[in-house]
Amino acid sequence: MGFPRHFDARGRYLAVRISTLLTINLIKFALFVAVAHGQVRYSIPEEMMKGSQVGNIVQDLGLDIKRLKSGRARIFTEDSREYISLNVDKGTLIVTERIDREELCAQVSPCSLHFQIILENPMELHRIDVEILDINDHAPAFHRKEIGFEIRESSSPGSRFALDSAHDPDVGLNTPQKYTLNPTEYFTLKEFSRSDGTKYVEMVLKTPLDREQQEEHKLILTATDGGTPPKTGTVIINVAVIDTNDNSPVFTQPIYSVHLPENVPKSHLVVVVSATDEDKGSNGEVTYSFSQSNEIETMNLFDIDSETGEIKVNGLLDFEKSKHYEMNVEAKDSGGLTDTSKVLIEITDVNDNFPVITVISFVNPIPEDSAPESVIAILNIKDIDSGKNGQIKCNINSHLPFHIKSSSANFYSLVNDRILDREMYSEYNITITAGDEGSPSLSTNKTLTLKISDVNDNAPVFQRHSYIAYVMENNSPGVSIFSITATDIDTGNNARISYFLEEQLVNGVAASSYISVNAESGEILAVRSFDYEQTKEFNICVKAQDGGNPPLSSNVSVKVIIQDQNDNAPQILYPVQTGGSVVAEMVPRSADVGYLVTKVVAVDVDSGQNAWLSYKLQKATDRALFEAGLHNGEIRTVRQVTDKDAVKQKVTVVVEDNGDPSRSATVNVNVVLADSFPDVLSEFTDFTQDKEYNDNLTFYLVLALAVVSFLFIVSVIAILSVKCYRWKRERMFYKAGANLPVIPYYPPLYADVGGTGTLQHVHNYDTYETTDSRKSYLKHAGPPIESIINLNTCENQTVTRSHVGKAAEVFNQVSPFK
Ligand SMILES: *[C@@H]1O[C@H](CO)[C@@H](O)[C@H](O)[C@H]1NC(C)=O
Ligand SMILES: *[C@@H]1O[C@H](CO)[C@@H](O)[C@H](O)[C@H]1NC(C)=O
Repeated sequence: MGFPRHFDARGRYLAVRISTLLTINLIKFALFVAVAHGQVRYSIPEEMMKGSQVGNIVQDLGLDIKRLKSGRARIFTEDSREYISLNVDKGTLIVTERIDREELCAQVSPCSLHFQIILENPMELHRIDVEILDINDHAPAFHRKEIGFEIRESSSPGSRFALDSAHDPDVGLNTPQKYTLNPTEYFTLKEFSRSDGTKYVEMVLKTPLDREQQEEHKLILTATDGGTPPKTGTVIINVAVIDTNDNSPVFTQPIYSVHLPENVPKSHLVVVVSATDEDKGSNGEVTYSFSQSNEIETMNLFDIDSETGEIKVNGLLDFEKSKHYEMNVEAKDSGGLTDTSKVLIEITDVNDNFPVITVISFVNPIPEDSAPESVIAILNIKDIDSGKNGQIKCNINSHLPFHIKSSSANFYSLVNDRILDREMYSEYNITITAGDEGSPSLSTNKTLTLKISDVNDNAPVFQRHSYIAYVMENNSPGVSIFSITATDIDTGNNARISYFLEEQLVNGVAASSYISVNAESGEILAVRSFDYEQTKEFNICVKAQDGGNPPLSSNVSVKVIIQDQNDNAPQILYPVQTGGSVVAEMVPRSADVGYLVTKVVAVDVDSGQNAWLSYKLQKATDRALFEAGLHNGEIRTVRQVTDKDAVKQKVTVVVEDNGDPSRSATVNVNVVLADSFPDVLSEFTDFTQDKEYNDNLTFYLVLALAVVSFLFIVSVIAILSVKCYRWKRERMFYKAGANLPVIPYYPPLYADVGGTGTLQHVHNYDTYETTDSRKSYLKHAGPPIESIINLNTCENQTVTRSHVGKAAEVFNQVSPFK
């Protein structure tokens, strides 16, 4: 509804204000017309419908419709555009074109159309003013859709930021009247009025901004005009909060605790320290470093990556040197704000140290008889690792007679289990192994070469319990007959063996008169020449003694066996060959073939082959009549005795032994071929006159006499000598009172042919040759064979005398040939 206003005629007007609520075009406004001097003024709202009536000039000018027609009333405007036309028939003004006040007048107010109505006949001019009234047909609007601000978070409250003003083509109250901002948490609006009455606003910071809390703010500025209804326009305000370095870096942990095994390789990652900075950009860029308060040594062992915060190992971590490290790390942003944190590194032990064996003392060599549990070596064994890694177990290679004893911490002694035997093992390689209990365990070896020194605990040993030495009789004195060796498993002087002959009696004589022993070589030498026929064997005892202190010895018996040589010729026992007597065997002429004439009995004092005798017929008066048994010496007839055969038969038998060379003896056997004793006697003279026999007999008698005389003289001289010598010696003893060498006494018949090498007989021959040989035989009746004399003085002829048994003697006595 409009409210009409009444003005004076002069320059006053009636303004009708019409508000249109629903539709604008069909509503009639109450028109207020002011007529003065033919001047009418109308007010119409803009944007009226075409054909809408602006006013009735007939009424308002007081004209008659006819006059309008006659006067050819028309509208004259200065500008060509005609918004309003005249309906001549009705005398009304009608809107012919849409009238936009904003187009027509923009901000000019009031806005009016001016035109004339011209009438002719008579010419009349009526001025018409049509004021175009504003309606709120535009909303306030901002030039920009969005307004952006970058505000530092450090900006203090009260800071002002000019905002755009909203524009509204309408005028008056229809222009923006009010601004609001939403939300209002951080900012408020402050309105200002310009001198022309328009308003503008500024945004004022109410509470401090925090980029870290909200980085962007979106606000809406609304402008509201004063129309009815009011219209609004909005603009978005984007506030970007610019970061300032108002936050320090902050480590994620106040303390970083790390356990690290020692000996980790270089560049091993220990820990990553990290700090955050809520600021943005360079303000939030954190660099890490060790703080200068750390010890230089620690800093040299580790490295920190300034960008990533990785702490890595840069040196050798040794638990044995340092068990933990502590360092401060610093985080710094580009603005220089810092935070510090602590890194604690506990080094854990790794079994990286081998036990070390040090020999403190070592007794080498030790005597083999050292008592058990003797300390041989003292060792110090250490492992600088800790805990189990440093606990040591110590042992030696098995099967050795030693063991390790732990005496006190880290000290060990090597002792023997039992008494040692150098002869079994003279040297031991004792390997001491010390291992720790780490996992894996580390161990160290040390080998001690222990030498065992000798103690004289072994006597010399002969290879055998007894020895047999053979020696040919008639050996030269001083000849080596045997060699014995003993061994001693000790060493050095304890094994240096000397040989000695034990003093003993051999056949009643000191053994040393038979045998001597080379102390160095153990060679057994004959001191004299042996005679098998006298001594066949004897025993000696040789002692081997080592050079130890005290010495040890052992002995062995050596049986010396003397071997026979064919040094004796066979001896004829029967028939007895006597110088004077003639023995003859009587063979009856009637004897059959094979008649046993006699048996030649011979012996040989040698033995074995040397005493194996064979009998051969050498010569015979009639070779065809007799034969001799080769082995038994039986002389038998081989044919019938005839009358032609001579009464006296002589058979020579040679007896040979089987030695090499062989020796022999011959015997003559007289055989009488007779049936009765008278026959024999008749032939007897022939026998006794046998030239050969007689010669022999004479010779023997002369020889016996000479020998007896010689012996007698020698005996007398010897007795005198002895007497004289004793008398002299007694006197000398009396005078000097000192020991004098005893001149050995040799029995008269002692034959010493030593030195020439071939001693035939060295035993005494104390047979006395007498004229009556039978007596001498009786004197020697003892063992069947005791002595032999071989007289080479007889040219070519060997006569053997022997002692025979009773048979021969009896035969001798009954011999008819005496
Ligand atoms: C001990 O060791 C040495 C050197 O390796 C060696 O020559 C010797 O034969 C060894 N002795 C024993 C008894 O094993
Ligand atoms: C020889 O040694 C044994 C013991 O080994 C001893 O009984 C004997 O008497 C010793 N003989 C001599 C002649 O020393």
